[in-house]
Amino acid sequence: TATRTRLVLGNWKMHGNLADNTKLLNALLAAPRAATTTQMGVCVPFPYLAQTALALSGSSIAWGAQDISVHAQGAYTGEVSGGMLKDFSCHYVLVGHSERRAMHAESDQLVSDKARAALTAGLTPVVCVGESLAERDAGQAVSVITRQLAPVLALGSEAVLKMVIAYEPVWAIGTGRTATPEQAQEVHAAIRAALKGAGAEQVQILYGGSVKAANAASLFAMPDIDGALVGGASLVAEDFLAIAA
Ligand code: G3P
Repeated sequence: TATRTRLVLGNWKMHGNLADNTKLLNALLAAPRAATTTQMGVCVPFPYLAQTALALSGSSIAWGAQDISVHAQGAYTGEVSGGMLKDFSCHYVLVGHSERRAMHAESDQLVSDKARAALTAGLTPVVCVGESLAERDAGQAVSVITRQLAPVLALGSEAVLKMVIAYEPVWAIGTGRTATPEQAQEVHAAIRAALKGAGAEQVQILYGGSVKAANAASLFAMPDIDGALVGGASLVAEDFLAIAA
């Protein structure tokens, strides 16, 4: 892990408003970060990208979005392109979050197409994968993740090296039930093995699912866990800062 910088990304999901965001962003900016090399970022709802860019510009905190269109521009009502995200200096964009896979029927191929669109726009896609509880109970966790990753890996190793992967077991998201460090490590190791080839050692693989200050350190102690994608706890400055300490 020595060569991989730790990354802690907040996923605000559909939370926030101008006033609360200002408080949260200011609290993140005010915290002393000199003692840590952990990279920190927030993925915010589209309407708040301008506010976030203005607040965080010039700081060490990166920002990004939670979805991207596969199209560059055109008659796609309601979609937001990679170029638009770049206009607001986004660094990251989440693709394939389980909530989008489940509620918007995003297929493995569509997620790969979105990852490619992000790379084309010069963004870093954070490709989210994860099994459901039924799949885990059936012993299919690794096979589900391998299936989800296949079209992404088909983009080629040059592309994969520019991505972040996030393992988010669906049963651990927003449930308070975190995967144990050992459960997560097992899947992270399988993901790294699936990335194979030169460079797999460089790719940051984040864990997501009920990460809190109390469990972050034990997760980060595992050799293939390079940081976290944080939902609920990223909305509370002191909790998020403690995870990224
Ligand atoms: O993308 C982050 C995520 O789905 C985890 O959410 O609230 O369990 O940390 P939460």
